[in-house]
Amino acid sequence: MKSKVVFIFCVLLFSKNVMADESSSTLAAMSAWQNQRGSIFTIDRVDADGKLTGTFINRAQGYLCKNIPYPVVGWIYGTAISFTTKWQSTTESCNSITAWTGFYNRDSGKIETLWDLSISGSTDRSQILQGQDTFTPSPIMENKSLLDK
Ligand code: BTN
Repeated sequence: MKSKVVFIFCVLLFSKNVMADESSSTLAAMSAWQNQRGSIFTIDRVDADGKLTGTFINRAQGYLCKNIPYPVVGWIYGTAISFTTKWQSTTESCNSITAWTGFYNRDSGKIETLWDLSISGSTDRSQILQGQDTFTPSPIMENKSLLDK
């Protein structure tokens, strides 16, 4: 009887750890996320401090600098995330920077963010564009890693 209780305890402990590992690996490197505007955010690397690097492909209607991967830098701290893109490249530049801040929602599996878009030359805080983006896991990174092999 005692060994049965110990066994059940061990099974519960093990499954709890597996679940914790799963949820903490969801904001991990080599993941891709698509927002409600069709834009794609990829997390290519997260170092031991939580510093992230990746890319952002803007596909939002009403904006320039579309369909080009721009570098992203940011931070992950538990489920908190903050990342930023400078919309500058040899192909197209938009004289602007966007910063997203939000969190990974463990219940929905989505990244919920608020963003600010600052345009170079702005003279008043009212000129900072603001919005919300929700990112859903995208399978494109799996394809990319298959192609890389
Ligand atoms: C610009 O037009 O100045 C650069 C492109 C900005 C695209 C913005 S960033 C926030 C929002 N979410 C998107 O996916 N795209 C727009």
